Amino acid sequence: MTTQEFLGKQNFTIHTQIVSDSCPSNIALIKYWGKYENQIPANPSISYTLNHCKTNTSMEFLADEPFSVQTFLAGNEEVKFAEKIEKYFKNIEEYLPWILKGKYIIRTENTFPHSSGIASSASGFGAIAKCLMKLDGIFSNELSEEESLRKASFLARLGSGSACRSLYNGLVVWGTSDEVEGSSDLFAVQYPDAEIHDIFKNFNDWVLLIHEGQKSVSSTVGHGLMNTNPYAERRFQEARENFVPMKEILKNGDMERFIKLVEHEALTLHAMMMMSDPAFILMKTGTMEVINKVWDFRREAGLPLFFTLDAGANVHLLFPNNGSEDQIKTFIETELLQHTQKNGVVKDVMTF
Ligand code: PMV
Repeated sequence: MTTQEFLGKQNFTIHTQIVSDSCPSNIALIKYWGKYENQIPANPSISYTLNHCKTNTSMEFLADEPFSVQTFLAGNEEVKFAEKIEKYFKNIEEYLPWILKGKYIIRTENTFPHSSGIASSASGFGAIAKCLMKLDGIFSNELSEEESLRKASFLARLGSGSACRSLYNGLVVWGTSDEVEGSSDLFAVQYPDAEIHDIFKNFNDWVLLIHEGQKSVSSTVGHGLMNTNPYAERRFQEARENFVPMKEILKNGDMERFIKLVEHEALTLHAMMMMSDPAFILMKTGTMEVINKVWDFRREAGLPLFFTLDAGANVHLLFPNNGSEDQIKTFIETELLQHTQKNGVVKDVMTF
């Protein structure tokens, strides 16, 4: 599907309507960091969609009122968020020609703490895009369920790049890769189930809340810094190349190589930030303590506990449900929780 195929139809009938939907967050294994104009990623990425960390959104559309957006996050009015959504809606009008023909009241809540650093922009824009496609289904289009989901992913991407991966369950790829059939820079696709070893279909992601504040660098600024980073091109190439081993690993269930690749990706993202101008160190002392303890534990216990990081200090602890999870959970509770700010941990799973 090309951008052309997402253009909206001009014949539509609008009326006042309320729709609601929810969308989970996701955590990248091969990271997206760096983009071109119109939210085109500089390299392909692959992520796990979480099961529990979600945004629930209701969207009230008041037809024929002047275009405006009002947003409420967990019951509190959020003017800044409304401004962002207004800009976003104007930006996607060519794909949904009815979108500016009414007033919106959007109520949204996350099932995870706001300050947790779990990507609420991914689940948030995912849920908004799903609501928009519900309205679009009512007002105008005759898309199939599959096409509608694809268009939701396309629209979510224009709100927040990584959000486009949240529309699908399991392992999800965004960005053109020779290794993944049907992959695209414009929307995400589900990684084929038949190509995934069972060990990767039942995984835990426990997020340690090392630092519950505002991130020191927004993802917009972070992506922008890649434009002048002298290592950027090499990094984009590496991410593209990492799809070759990732494909083999996912197929044959090689946990050791999986761990090595996923941790390398996380550390590379942070290294890129350290080598930017201006430089950012996104890890805190607690992040380092946890990483070192995870490495010691793996060496000593030989169990598959490992980490990934977003563009922040919190640590996503990954481990499969393969019989060793109880021992790993005890280790996390007794040894790692002490490095969080307030014993903060969000326990999620990825099962599919
Ligand atoms: O979707 P954005 O623009 O918030 O970027 C998110 C980038 C990372 O979360 C750091 C990596 C990724 O691929 O999700």
